[in-house]
Amino acid sequence: MRKLSVVIAILGTFAAHAADLRGHGGPVRAIVVQPDGRIATASFDTTIIRWQPGRGVAETVLRAHEGAVNALVALPDGGYASAGEDRRILVWPKSGITPLRILEGHEAPVASLALSPDGTTLASAAWDGTVRLWPLAGGSPRVLDQHRGNVNAVAYLSDGTLASAGYDGTLLLHRGAGAPRAIPIGVPLNALASAGDELVVAAADGQLRFVNPLTGSMDVLPVSEVPLVALAASADGKRIGTAGFRGALVLANRETRAIIRRMAGPAFPLWSLAFSPDGTEILTGGADRLVRRWSVATGEPVNPVLAEATEARFAAFATHPGAEIYKACIACHTLSEEDGNRAGPTLHRLMGRKIGTAPGYTYSAALAGKEIIWSRETVARLFDIGPNAMLPGTKMPEQVVTRAEDREALVDFIEKAGQ
Ligand code: HEC
Repeated sequence: MRKLSVVIAILGTFAAHAADLRGHGGPVRAIVVQPDGRIATASFDTTIIRWQPGRGVAETVLRAHEGAVNALVALPDGGYASAGEDRRILVWPKSGITPLRILEGHEAPVASLALSPDGTTLASAAWDGTVRLWPLAGGSPRVLDQHRGNVNAVAYLSDGTLASAGYDGTLLLHRGAGAPRAIPIGVPLNALASAGDELVVAAADGQLRFVNPLTGSMDVLPVSEVPLVALAASADGKRIGTAGFRGALVLANRETRAIIRRMAGPAFPLWSLAFSPDGTEILTGGADRLVRRWSVATGEPVNPVLAEATEARFAAFATHPGAEIYKACIACHTLSEEDGNRAGPTLHRLMGRKIGTAPGYTYSAALAGKEIIWSRETVARLFDIGPNAMLPGTKMPEQVVTRAEDREALVDFIEKAGQ
């Protein structure tokens, strides 16, 4: 029981304390890959990023949560639902940056979301001990309160049965309106995935359990010495990926119950996993704030989702000492007029420009009405104290450049390459 409380304490304290530069300003907590290859990620930095397929370019940054975002699911209309530390569930449109709906009622952080197979209901699991079922068409949620303690995970089976699991070590199967069926496991449970006709459960004892929801029988696969926190199943249900807190990524074959491989590296620890639609790649999101792709067949890294820009302006100044630092900006900003706006406004001719005035870009209210003129000094200050301190409420993810000489190199690079 001890181990999970450690995991939860860390989940709760990481938000928005970025000390380094990447696309996200904090660990990546959830990844969604759509059947057409579109990717969205959610982070402890309170933002959600929609990525352009295959280009490593951030299309939009969504920021309306007031704390870490713990869960993200794709909705049938192309939008997303997200939830997190601020106890709220936000429903986002397919494009646009303003939430369509805010679902309130949970009394503690929301840890997990799942969409019913018929696309009508959103299930949420929270540390207030409840699971809530929200009709997407509107109306009040049904509250399921049979768990004792934090509920960490929800997942739907293909027949519409909802599974929930949490700190109390019990897997509950909710079918229809009656009492749920309880399958006691006896150790705190952190994550659930539905694969084939089975449920896969990742637990605080470092073991994966494959549970038959009809009989309650289960197989146990020990994978790690530390609690498992991330879990994903491939679309065909054949491959399972899981990662432990401080541990390696483990790929398993669900049908044979065998570990295919263990992977470790600088990208770990991991907080989130997702398979590509064809199951040939696994995407990882972790403490290094990057989303990375790995080949399932070889375990080797595939081109990172956050690729370096092929932008001509960047290439022309690639040997400048600030180029390396500017890589943290590439996903969201360009340096020329032709390349235009990405998730953030272009930084073309930034120096001397008034804040919030790049043509064609929709800024958040945090920048409107501010009197800042961007200069080497004001841009350096932005990344000395961080965007949250200088522009409270901005949708730019929190990040700071710690060393003064790095800030100097960064502003010099933006001035020269952005001319
Ligand atoms: C994940 C996306 C993302 C990353 C990474 C990012 N930014 Fe931004 N940036 C934004 C967004 C979004 C805005 C608009 C903020 C708003 O409207 O609240 C913005 C705004 C800005 C502005 C204000 C521009 C204006 O027109 O007033 C500057 C300057 C800036 N960013 C510089 C940088 C630099 C330098 C880096 C890298 C060190 C960086 N950003 C990294 C998303 C990002």
